[in-house]
Amino acid sequence: MQKGVMRPGHVQIRVLDMETAVAHYRDRLGLIHTHTDSQGRNYFKGWTEIDAFSVVLREADEPGMDFMALKVLDAATLAARKQDLIDYGCQVETIPAGELDGCGERVRFDSPTGHWFELFAEKEQTGKWGVGDRNPDAWPEDLKGMKATRFDHCLLYGDDIDGTVDLLSSVLGFQLAEQVRDEEADLRVAAFLTVSMKAHDVAFVRHEEKGKFHHASFYLSSWEDVLRAADLISMHDIALDIGPTRHGLTHGQTIYFFDPSGNRNEVFSGGDYTYPDHPVVTWDASQLGKAIFYHDRQLNERFLGVVT
Ligand SMILES: [Fe+2]
Repeated sequence: MQKGVMRPGHVQIRVLDMETAVAHYRDRLGLIHTHTDSQGRNYFKGWTEIDAFSVVLREADEPGMDFMALKVLDAATLAARKQDLIDYGCQVETIPAGELDGCGERVRFDSPTGHWFELFAEKEQTGKWGVGDRNPDAWPEDLKGMKATRFDHCLLYGDDIDGTVDLLSSVLGFQLAEQVRDEEADLRVAAFLTVSMKAHDVAFVRHEEKGKFHHASFYLSSWEDVLRAADLISMHDIALDIGPTRHGLTHGQTIYFFDPSGNRNEVFSGGDYTYPDHPVVTWDASQLGKAIFYHDRQLNERFLGVVT
């Protein structure tokens, strides 16, 4: 937080068919569908989120992630970090306020792994859906599907993960919470970064191609809800990747599946926390199976290789 970056703010995901995608994110994940903009993009939020939206779907010819955005404290922080990104050598572009409905000016920048990120300071705040912020009830009664509470993090695949870790750490104040290292090759294989107490706000896995999207993840309230998500995946014949299981990395309880366009989704609960004085947690690459799937202790080729 010392650089004024608070948290993930939104992710824009490309989908092949908007109608089936909206049904998936609204009725299966249980995100709140807030509206459709003049470009035909659809906006969603988890019911506990304060801001007006956190997921934007854009119809395109191939799936994947357009960008992931991080919310900063205020306009002065946005201007300061924009200059820092320029000084660091990033390609930086300013997207005017209102290009995404309800969102202020965004500062878009590239990264050594080929992913596009954004910073923004202002977004319309619509409050926790169905309960508000005055004497709020525990939860709204009419949630759908998996009842996703919030957009939590993305896992991204790319080549120069050390470069992106350096950029996000030195310019934006991210902390390396966990990593996978191959000591024989003296190589960092995966990096889990946080700007908060969460185990990760964004994570990276080393991969030969740039700019790949592994998953967007949504937080559920309990392990019981992860099991319930697994039931819903069967009830609706949603393509399953793996789970329900537990990660060694971050120790979250998790299940992975695919949206109708082939983008991977995760819903999870629990997991570790990170304070600024915590040492980096390191998993050895020789233990990668257990690090990723703590129970099976074996890698699944689809999990490693299928990205959009
Ligand atoms: Fe994840």
